[in-house]
Amino acid sequence: MGNVKASITGVCGYVPDYVLTNKELESLVETSDEWIITRTGIKERRILKGEGLGTSHMAQEAVKGLLAKTNTKAEEIDLLICCTTTPDYVFPATGNLLCDMCGLKNAFSFDMNAACSGFLYGLVTGSQYIESGKFKKVIVVGADKMSAIVNYKDRNTCILFGDGAGAVLLEPDTEGYGVLDSVLKTDGAGAQYLIMKGGGSRHPATIESVMSNAHFAHQEGATVFKFAVKNMADVAADIMERNQLSGDDVAWLVPHQANKRIIDATAERMGVGPEKVMMNIQRYGNTTSATLPLVLWDYEKQLKKGDKLVLAAFGGGFTWGSVYLKWAYDPK
Ligand code: UT7
Repeated sequence: MGNVKASITGVCGYVPDYVLTNKELESLVETSDEWIITRTGIKERRILKGEGLGTSHMAQEAVKGLLAKTNTKAEEIDLLICCTTTPDYVFPATGNLLCDMCGLKNAFSFDMNAACSGFLYGLVTGSQYIESGKFKKVIVVGADKMSAIVNYKDRNTCILFGDGAGAVLLEPDTEGYGVLDSVLKTDGAGAQYLIMKGGGSRHPATIESVMSNAHFAHQEGATVFKFAVKNMADVAADIMERNQLSGDDVAWLVPHQANKRIIDATAERMGVGPEKVMMNIQRYGNTTSATLPLVLWDYEKQLKKGDKLVLAAFGGGFTWGSVYLKWAYDPK
């Protein structure tokens, strides 16, 4: 089975309707449209409104859309990996809920939390199940309702994040397409710089934890920025080198959408021109686990069979990594 690779055979996304603009943020915190655009590249982000709607609501839309557009029956799916940092509940896993919501009666499922690298970790993990020959159809969905853990009084974080979901279908390929290489990294020493301290087993919810904002994401932006710029560029350059890829060989850089300046630095290091960099940060902000499938979904019509893609991400944990894949289909 050594030559079986996992190729992406479909992608679908979902973003909620509500648009949170920089202008509206100006009314919530001391900030400006100009500062946000210059420092991050973000103009607006989507927010999931509605009582009782969690990450699964968006993820199910992406998964159902994926099944429909790839003409796949729900019962055919062997495995669903739900990459999320904002699960509906601490347990059961959001992936389990999704199987029920989408009618995946023959799939097993689990959640994967690697913050902004979640989708990359999930893509590589899902690929292993295909490469082993054990499974034929695997869904990897990246979804986050960041608005559930963002403090809209904290200008350091509230301008950055948005809500969304994206899903891909993985199937076996023996013709040289699919996920060809990956590098995944973890450094838990970075945990303190991007963390939600409350609600887990170390600091369960108490009145004090709520009052001290422990249930909101906390980020030391400038520190995370420095690690992100270096590590995302390093790992993308590594994967290019070991696969003998030049900037010209790469059809698309598919970067995590955290900050346009981090994306630009990664592209520059890789020698990839801006016309070959997938970017939708201006419309969606940082949707954490959803950025990569959402940006692939946005650019799907421009992708051609055989295109060489380098995916790269960096996130809380710290977690980071890069994937080299050959796109498996022409626009349909
Ligand atoms: O996806 C997971 C990984 N996360 C990331 O990759 C995010 C990495 N970090 C970043 O993208 C950037 O660090 C931020 C966009 C979060 C912040 O940009 P920065 O250029 O690093 O700004 P800074 O935190 O160093 O702050 C510069 C100044 C400070 O004012 P003083 O101390 O110089 O007077 C901040 O208080 O900008 C101020 N500031 C703001 N001003 C207006 C911080 N946030 C805002 C704001 N509006 N929203």
